[in-house]
Amino acid sequence: MEPATERATGLAVAAADAPSHWVEGERLWRRLMELAQFGATPNGGVHRLALSAEEIAARAQLVAWGTALGLAPANDAAGNLFLRLRGKEPELPPVLVGSHIDTQPSGGKFDGAYGVIAALEALEAIISAGQRPRRCVDIVAWMNEEGARFAPGMMGSAVFAGKRSLEEIKRVKDSNGVAIADALAGVLAAEQDLPRRPLGFPAEAFIEAHIEQGVVLERHGTPIGIVIGLQGKRTFLVEVVGEEAHAGTTPRSTRRDALVSAVDIIKSLEAALWDDVDTVRFTIGRLVLQPNVPSVVPGRATFSIDLRHNDTDVIRDLGDKVPDVCARARGRCEVAVTQLLYDPPLEFPPAVRARLRAAAERAGLRHMELQSPAGHDSRYLHSVCPSGMIFIPCKDGISHNEAESIKPSDAVAGVRVLADVVCELACE
Ligand code: HGY
Ligand code: MN
Ligand code: MN
Repeated sequence: MEPATERATGLAVAAADAPSHWVEGERLWRRLMELAQFGATPNGGVHRLALSAEEIAARAQLVAWGTALGLAPANDAAGNLFLRLRGKEPELPPVLVGSHIDTQPSGGKFDGAYGVIAALEALEAIISAGQRPRRCVDIVAWMNEEGARFAPGMMGSAVFAGKRSLEEIKRVKDSNGVAIADALAGVLAAEQDLPRRPLGFPAEAFIEAHIEQGVVLERHGTPIGIVIGLQGKRTFLVEVVGEEAHAGTTPRSTRRDALVSAVDIIKSLEAALWDDVDTVRFTIGRLVLQPNVPSVVPGRATFSIDLRHNDTDVIRDLGDKVPDVCARARGRCEVAVTQLLYDPPLEFPPAVRARLRAAAERAGLRHMELQSPAGHDSRYLHSVCPSGMIFIPCKDGISHNEAESIKPSDAVAGVRVLADVVCELACE
């Protein structure tokens, strides 16, 4: 079958059609499954950490798909990847659409990846429908959304939006001591032929399609979620410092055991932060002991705190408690608390949400508004241009887990809304 571009050229003489009529489910699903091969795990999940070899290969595949469609690839110094559909007036600020393709260590096929592949399918539908937008449309794969290898997450979109500096993120190291500066150099070297975009540029709007990572849509039997906003998030690094000692010769009375103190601190944090109505999300996802061997009393315990809540005052008040609770529960050890991120709750513009709702209605798709408990790159894009999100259901709300799964029909429904809204924004 001739590439969509030729078909579109032929069709360009015909009246332009709604892109949502040109979304092809098989093509969408095939690309989702092919992208999932980059870092595929034996249990059906994906291990594709930010700036890894797996991600470099997946980016090359996105570039290949994009150039076959006539899109122009580019990247920026923060490792964000762009695929541009040129508009009739390229000097106008473009519409951005996309998400991320990095995953958690044992992640699923769809967190992030759905939004990038949905954007590709949306642009192919726009081309096939014979549309010639005024504005350029950029598909974007934001660098390091997950924050799994390098913390905190959402680094690429944060640098694009001017929330973090490139110098700041380049210093961050992974657990093997590899700095972002070096990992990023590897990615940019692999893409040395791609044009380099400036770090941040004016954009007309940003739309992100993503799996819900919750159970609301599934329980309502609704394929389309219009996201109201994102809950607040604060992350911390806690370092507990005691003294390494011989496991056999050191009495408890003289030990300065960093793990014992860390456990006391964590139990105190739970007591201080957990609420009776289970709305506070408090997670210790990483705990590293040093020297982490059986016969040495741990001299150092370093752990992460991921704290989230939908209320501005609650996330402020609870997060402000963390340093004091840690200090009180430290026992014989020293403790240092560093806040890595403080993102208050946000609400997307009603005008963007109304546009998404109208597109779902025109496409005859059931839809509902809902909050996002998960974080997304749209947080930072929201600070630089009108932004919005489309959710589709995922089975049992499972995500950040190899068992993550979606229904092909919901995947198509999300793209149909995305394609029409992106086209509308780019044609106006
Ligand atoms: O953690 C999050 O909310 C996102 O899925 N990275
Ligand atoms: Mn995500
Ligand atoms: Mn995620």
